[in-house]
Amino acid sequence: MKEIIAENYSIFFNDNGYDALTYHLKSYNYSKIFIHLDTNTNKYCLNVLLNKVKINDFETIISKDGENYKNIESCMLLWEKLSLLGADRKSLIINLGGGVVGDMGGFIASTFKRGIDFINIPTTLLSMVDASIGGKTGIDLGVLKNQIGTFYDPKMVIIDSTYLKTLSQTEIRSGYAEIFKHSLISDIELFQRLIFESNNNVLYNDKVIKGSIKIKNDIVLIDKKENKERKALNFGHTLGHAIESFFLKSEKRLLHGEAIGIGMILSSYISHKLFDFNSTNLDLIKNHILNVYKKINFSKMEISKIIELLKHDKKNSHGNINFILLREIGVPVYDIQVDSKMIVDSFEYYNN
Ligand SMILES: NC(=O)c1ccc[n+]([C@@H]2O[C@H](COP(=O)([O-])OP(=O)(O)OC[C@H]3O[C@@H](n4cnc5c(N)ncnc54)[C@H](O)[C@@H]3O)[C@@H](O)[C@H]2O)c1
Repeated sequence: MKEIIAENYSIFFNDNGYDALTYHLKSYNYSKIFIHLDTNTNKYCLNVLLNKVKINDFETIISKDGENYKNIESCMLLWEKLSLLGADRKSLIINLGGGVVGDMGGFIASTFKRGIDFINIPTTLLSMVDASIGGKTGIDLGVLKNQIGTFYDPKMVIIDSTYLKTLSQTEIRSGYAEIFKHSLISDIELFQRLIFESNNNVLYNDKVIKGSIKIKNDIVLIDKKENKERKALNFGHTLGHAIESFFLKSEKRLLHGEAIGIGMILSSYISHKLFDFNSTNLDLIKNHILNVYKKINFSKMEISKIIELLKHDKKNSHGNINFILLREIGVPVYDIQVDSKMIVDSFEYYNN
């Protein structure tokens, strides 16, 4: 499988990736190599990597797993450990994990000694098709996600779906939402393949993963700093995040991908109303998402509280709620303001 070229690095697949890594380690002659893991990838993924590639002399640095630990306290522990173990400006960090390991490890690398090299080897579906690509690193600030961070590119990314064998179906389904989103914002053929050929027990294959990565990479190449085109990657996320936050502490707690899936149905409905987005495709999107994720029923009270949450979302610039919508599959429209009544209607479309 040929690599994908990003701005300052390449994304390699399977054995090509491990060959590229071996070559890279030989040519860069790093003073020390650190493999950054979380508790799960230490258990499930480290041996897979070490069976694929010979890395002489390395230290592991291990974070606790999950979003709750993507914070400055974990960074302090990592920076201290690097320092204690003698990391210097010529050291390398290899992030072997999901989006949390990658985002936090990239952030650590971008700040330690004013920036050292790092490599991403993503081990979840979401981090393969999304988090490991595009140069955003970061951590959360309290409950606010990704508030502190940098743009800092890895030296390379290696994609190997072997790691997904130990990932739970729940996490696979969660990551699938980003693959589906990529098809909606940019690729009608992928959209049709996902809708008509997908098998709900196997939501990915190497071709789908590669196609999805290519979509994200192409967008980042045009607009890395998210001035316009990159915003399309937020399709479904404005409402999705509000829904995810709303149910965070309740028994209805949703997977990230589930919430984004609902957000994509609502945004497609609004696109239909405001931009004449094709109604057959709208129904196909709704049915597909409801085949993959369970249906939630939103009460009137929940809908109005979610809309309140949206209004307080700090990510909206100048106090406006900006939506990414679709004119048609593959044709996003940017920064559209939507009134509350239209959002309520979109929930009704979802509910019925
Ligand atoms: N930088 C970006 O552009 C970008 C884009 C999207 C998402 N993100 C970030 O990505 C994060 C979410 O990433 P995620 O969904 O990968 O979550 P995650 O990193 O928390 O991984 C999910 C769970 O799977 C476990 N795990 C990872 N790989 C495994 C494997 N192969 N086998 C068994 N268990 C495994 C992890 O330990 C964790 O418990 C969020 O913090 C989000 O903000 C970043």
